Amino acid sequence: MVRYIFPKYEIKLEIPEDVYFPEEDTFLILNSIEIIEDYRFLLEIGGGSGIISIVLAHRNPKLRCLITDISLSSVKTIYKNSRLNHLEKQIDAVCMDKMQALRQFCPDIIIWNPPYLPSDEDTDSFSFEDKKMLIGGKKGYEEVYELFKYLKQNKIRTSFYTLFSSLAWSKEDLHDIEDTGFSVQIIDEINMFFEKLYLVKSELSDTDA
Ligand SMILES: C[S@@+](CC[C@H](N)C(=O)[O-])C[C@H]1O[C@@H](n2cnc3c(N)ncnc32)[C@H](O)[C@@H]1O
Repeated sequence: MVRYIFPKYEIKLEIPEDVYFPEEDTFLILNSIEIIEDYRFLLEIGGGSGIISIVLAHRNPKLRCLITDISLSSVKTIYKNSRLNHLEKQIDAVCMDKMQALRQFCPDIIIWNPPYLPSDEDTDSFSFEDKKMLIGGKKGYEEVYELFKYLKQNKIRTSFYTLFSSLAWSKEDLHDIEDTGFSVQIIDEINMFFEKLYLVKSELSDTDA
């Protein structure tokens, strides 16, 4: 197993081949999200190597993080990396689809760097693991939209941060999310070689909570 050092974030990680290696999307989140001092509970969905929660827990010693991932290999990696960075008291991980078994849980903040690419004939040949890491559905955003639905159904009022790619989604689509009862804003964006990534913050509106 190779150990990687991320000096900017003062952490180290072991990342097996079947776990998502942190990319520009990961760093967009890490460089844009500030944890308010009052925040106690972070729910991270799709934690991968655990990097996002590990960095945020390292920066905020009072923060407790629960990470879910649909990949068992990711969950084992998250436990290992939490110990490697001496953060095992702040971080727990569970293998779960999104936050399916957590309908009663209202964390202060939810973060998900989701699979956000659309599927096409090229992606049909991807391995099961790669599809889970990268493909968000036929249009690319279905997985995240399912979570919006779940937050609304269960009246989970919290700050939810997620990403969309210009390959699957455009700024005008913000209105579709607003129409389902959320206040939404793009808080950061980056241009990449062939796509743009949008970091979106949303919260269930008062009238819908
Ligand atoms: C783009 S990777 C992000 C990994 C890590 N958070 C990062 O930023 O480096 C997406 C992660 O979401 C996980 N995932 C995909 N669908 C999921 C689902 N329905 N529920 C929970 N995790 C999921 C994948 O296994 C993968 O680890």
